[in-house]
Amino acid sequence: MAVLSEKIEKILRRHGQEHLLHFAEALSGAELAGFERQLSEIEWEELSSLIDSHVKSRPDRSIPADISPAPYYPLPTSDPALKEKYSSAMDVGAKLIRDGRVALLTVAGGQGTRLGFDGPKGTYPISPAGGKSFFQYFSEKIRGANRKYGIALDWLIMTSPVNRGATLGFFEANNYFGLDRRNVHFFVQGTMPAISYDGRVLMESKSSLALSPNGHGGTIRALHDSGLLRMLENKGVEVISYFQIDNLIVPILDTLFIGLHHMDGSQVSSRMLAKTGPFEKLGNFCMSEGRLHIVEYSDMPEDLALQRDRDGRLLFISGSPAIHVFSLDFLDRLGDPASPVRLPWHRADKKVAFVDGSGRLVKPEKPNAVKLETFIFDCLPLAEKTIILEGMRDEQFSPTKNPDGVDSVESARRMLSERDARWLEAAGIEVPRSPDGSLDCVVELSPMKYYDAEDVSMLKGQITPPRSGEKRLYS
Ligand code: UTP
Repeated sequence: MAVLSEKIEKILRRHGQEHLLHFAEALSGAELAGFERQLSEIEWEELSSLIDSHVKSRPDRSIPADISPAPYYPLPTSDPALKEKYSSAMDVGAKLIRDGRVALLTVAGGQGTRLGFDGPKGTYPISPAGGKSFFQYFSEKIRGANRKYGIALDWLIMTSPVNRGATLGFFEANNYFGLDRRNVHFFVQGTMPAISYDGRVLMESKSSLALSPNGHGGTIRALHDSGLLRMLENKGVEVISYFQIDNLIVPILDTLFIGLHHMDGSQVSSRMLAKTGPFEKLGNFCMSEGRLHIVEYSDMPEDLALQRDRDGRLLFISGSPAIHVFSLDFLDRLGDPASPVRLPWHRADKKVAFVDGSGRLVKPEKPNAVKLETFIFDCLPLAEKTIILEGMRDEQFSPTKNPDGVDSVESARRMLSERDARWLEAAGIEVPRSPDGSLDCVVELSPMKYYDAEDVSMLKGQITPPRSGEKRLYS
């Protein structure tokens, strides 16, 4: 009869998790070995104290003391000095890109639960006319950037252990969408077990734990452990442009943003959007004791959220669309296991399927468990130097969280089509619109050929205007 090692048994009993031993005697040798491996990878001391602080009780959600609104670079600006600075910054940013000093990082390890799509979110057919997946769209965008700057960008993609296989398979099956596979680097984030409300680690099957990705904060450790930072450093990369897989319109490389980051000696820089209202569901950029913080919308005290300046504008106006630029040195320092940086854990109440004591798989209809995650933006206060640059929502942020409604497939498709229509119109091409100004067609520009508005303008002679009611892909 196979059993778990005595060491693991002792650990489980010490931490009140002996229910995990329940099926061990009935497992095959291979199942048992896999289970033992999973159990031994868990930092039990830390998990036990997290169960006390984040599951059995509610974590402390107090916000930093004496917060004030974070300053930012406004965009556009009428200030002549700033205009001049922006103009130099764009040159600096473009040069850094051309010189191979910039790499891209996309986090794609999330579970996309709200989207309810069976597969990694990156494989979802999102683009409005071409039906391209996020991965294809960004691959083509990168090919556009490579052409524009005469380079071969390195692209780091974080997956979770759960979606790694499907993500790699998707790139393989599609020949990396024309990218050189040597420039596409996958790395895997860590996981955390889901915990029932009574503090027990849940099992997904009789021989495995219910594990889920440990949040995008997992990027820091995973990136360090992957060795990719070293690889980039050896290639001369200094700056990493970070975006989320589900933001289709994000400018993957922004010369102004990268240039300002570099000129100001920033360690981590963030885009901000002017919030549409005091309670918009975006993290709030705040300063406390000279450090930059993002206070989650759910933690922002109502009286502060409502504060306005003399012109009636929200004081805490800056919302985060999760677009950042990191200095490689800073990420390297944060990930160093010799002086590990511990980001705070956040609790999320979720429905998690689990195997009960009788071996039956239970699929709960309401939240039954806590998932624990860290967030990348919690590293902001660790930086001595940060900057924030305003962004225009229509050109920056089309989050795809839900199938329809707010922040959805529907809204992301519409935003991309609108953005591409604006680029066509800026080049003097007429785009059919309804009397209320909304688009009367669906347009999509190939990001490989039309990387930006400038490309559209240069190639306008080749472009036939879209017709009313038409769905048109310009490839
Ligand atoms: P979200 O927190 O919005 O999660 O992730 P999600 O997976 O897209 O959707 P829900 O909440 O399950 O419905 C924002 C970004 O962070 C990545 C996601 O892939 C997305 O790009 N992410 C999130 C990770 O890479 N790992 C994680 O553990 C969580």
